Amino acid sequence: MKLQRLGSHGPTVSALGLGTMGMSDMYGPADRAESIATIHEAIDQGITLLDTGDFYGMGHNEMLIAEALGPKNRGAVLLSVKFGALRGPGPGEFNGYDSRPAAVRNFVAYSLKRLGVDCIDIYRPSRLDPGVPIEDTIGAIAELIRQGYVRYIGLSEVGARTIRRAQAVHPIADLQIEYSLISRGIEREILPTCRELGIGVTAYGVLSRGLISGHWRKDSQKGDFRSRAPRFQGANLDANLALVERLRAVATAMGASVAQVAIAWVRARAAVEGVAIVPLIGARRRERLQEALGALDLELSGDQLSGLEKAVPPDSAAGGRYPEALLAHLDSERSD
Ligand SMILES: NC(=O)c1ccc[n+]([C@@H]2O[C@H](COP(=O)([O-])OP(=O)(O)OC[C@H]3O[C@@H](n4cnc5c(N)ncnc54)[C@H](OP(=O)(O)O)[C@@H]3O)[C@@H](O)[C@H]2O)c1
Repeated sequence: MKLQRLGSHGPTVSALGLGTMGMSDMYGPADRAESIATIHEAIDQGITLLDTGDFYGMGHNEMLIAEALGPKNRGAVLLSVKFGALRGPGPGEFNGYDSRPAAVRNFVAYSLKRLGVDCIDIYRPSRLDPGVPIEDTIGAIAELIRQGYVRYIGLSEVGARTIRRAQAVHPIADLQIEYSLISRGIEREILPTCRELGIGVTAYGVLSRGLISGHWRKDSQKGDFRSRAPRFQGANLDANLALVERLRAVATAMGASVAQVAIAWVRARAAVEGVAIVPLIGARRRERLQEALGALDLELSGDQLSGLEKAVPPDSAAGGRYPEALLAHLDSERSD
């Protein structure tokens, strides 16, 4: 397995991480046994970074990870955990964010118990809580580091200004944020800021939640989170699937699959941007994981990168990456 240090302040991890969200939430029903088998396979193949959130299935995802790891594999991976999202009992109910210092201590106590560990490797607020200065939230996590409950601090979906304010309190290992051939907004200001401050990126949505995996079809809509995402709707979906076919033509010429070139493109951008970037793969099945791992064998040349970017030019995606109401929570989308 290729390794990658997460920026100047973070740990060394595998060049691909596994995100387990879809095993508990957001993407419709998942097969529990296959989810656990996928985590085991990831560890066997050398993946050392697992990403979760305490709100993925309201704790379900953390307990699933704890079961999959067991005492045997507990030390084999680094756990990245997001906190702060407030859920409710209704289907898909979200009620904002809470990142007050007392809430941070409460969230971490529950996560440690559910995960069955003494320490969380990377701990991060899932979104900026507009009611709490980021300095207070980062200060609370820094205190957890001093007490031995957390090892590194990460951020998620925040913009350049917030990144700078956070880093002024404590070194930040990585920013978790969406980045793909069809979501390149972070290249304007956020990636240059990460480069300047030595912060790594754990990229999610590398396959745009399956849309540019090469496996998504017009009739794949399953009534999950994605049915509310503009890119998966109506004429937008038609236009985006047409982009995938352009990508498929380039991928086929390279002897690779669509998902593999999409992942390899994100990895290759790390050298262009001068930022350590680790794609988080949302595989829920071993077969998908194997396909994703194949991307590590693709080291794209400059010509191949240009070929992919010609097939899918920047800003060519139809529709936003989140529904409007959720975009409003993204500090990363603010232009100040
Ligand atoms: N910080 C944040 O705000 C945030 C937001 C979202 C996600 N995340 C993190 O990022 C992780 C990745 O999630 P994502 O939605 O961004 O993942 P993704 O990799 O863009 O998409 C995952 C979806 O693509 C499908 N897929 C098809 N081929 C695949 C392949 N070869 N490998 C992997 N998946 C394939 C999956 O398959 P099937 O449905 O067929 O299983 C799944 O539905 C999450 O688990 C979570 O940890 C973070």
